[in-house]
Amino acid sequence: MPLLYFRNVSFANDGKDILRNVSFVADAGDFISIVGPSGSGKSTLLRLCGHLISPTTGNIFYKGVNMTGYSPTELRKNISYCSQTPYLFGNNVKDNLEFPFSIRNIPFNESRVKELFSLFNIPPVFLNSDVQNLSGGEKQRISLIRTLLFLPEVLLLDEVTSALDAENTRMAEDAISSLNKGGITVLWITHDPEQSQKYANKIITLEAGEIKSLEVLK
Ligand SMILES: Nc1ncnc2c1ncn2[C@@H]1O[C@H](COP(=O)(O)OP(=O)(O)OP(=O)(O)O)[C@@H](O)[C@H]1O
Ligand SMILES: [Mg+2]
Repeated sequence: MPLLYFRNVSFANDGKDILRNVSFVADAGDFISIVGPSGSGKSTLLRLCGHLISPTTGNIFYKGVNMTGYSPTELRKNISYCSQTPYLFGNNVKDNLEFPFSIRNIPFNESRVKELFSLFNIPPVFLNSDVQNLSGGEKQRISLIRTLLFLPEVLLLDEVTSALDAENTRMAEDAISSLNKGGITVLWITHDPEQSQKYANKIITLEAGEIKSLEVLK
């Protein structure tokens, strides 16, 4: 049974067709790159995968059950989404990283946070940094770390290395790739052609809201 199954999914808003008749399958362990021009519907597709928005027509099945049949909390636990524009709240980095623990009623685990800091090249002192003072690339990594504190079954990553330099991109790619090797299904959006080929076993190319091609690489 596929982990995610899009069946003839369309999404429209304000009278505008954003995605049209999209069908594809994500199997457990897949690493799927979603590529295509700006405005082609990539982020919309990823938000549908995360049940942050719902299809206008068509259905999305998670483990064979229509997504509408799950409680949103149950889906959030299993499917994590990291947005294209990092959104950090509160005053400091710690406020952001405490949040995933507090919603689960679990005490803050500083060693888990520090472990992720080292994987993503963030110095430990950043835990108390003011979010206003972070660079774009630092915000992007903190937002990704927040997504990864509790590991999901499906990881949805929207251009999460777009603000990073080559070295930090490589570290983030290594971390994401090792999560995939550990069994987590990854769907990520990237504008970088090399990055789209490097780890993926499937590449979905969108154009003007439709799937133009679905390549299976390995
Ligand atoms: N909720 C919405 N209501 C109306 N239009 C929307 C909505 N969300 C997205 N759009 C429009 O749909 C199109 C696809 O948007 P989307 O964000 O999915 O593109 P994208 O492929 O991720 O682009 P980029 O590479 O620039 O991030 C765009 O033209 C956008 O303006
Ligand atoms: Mg986008």
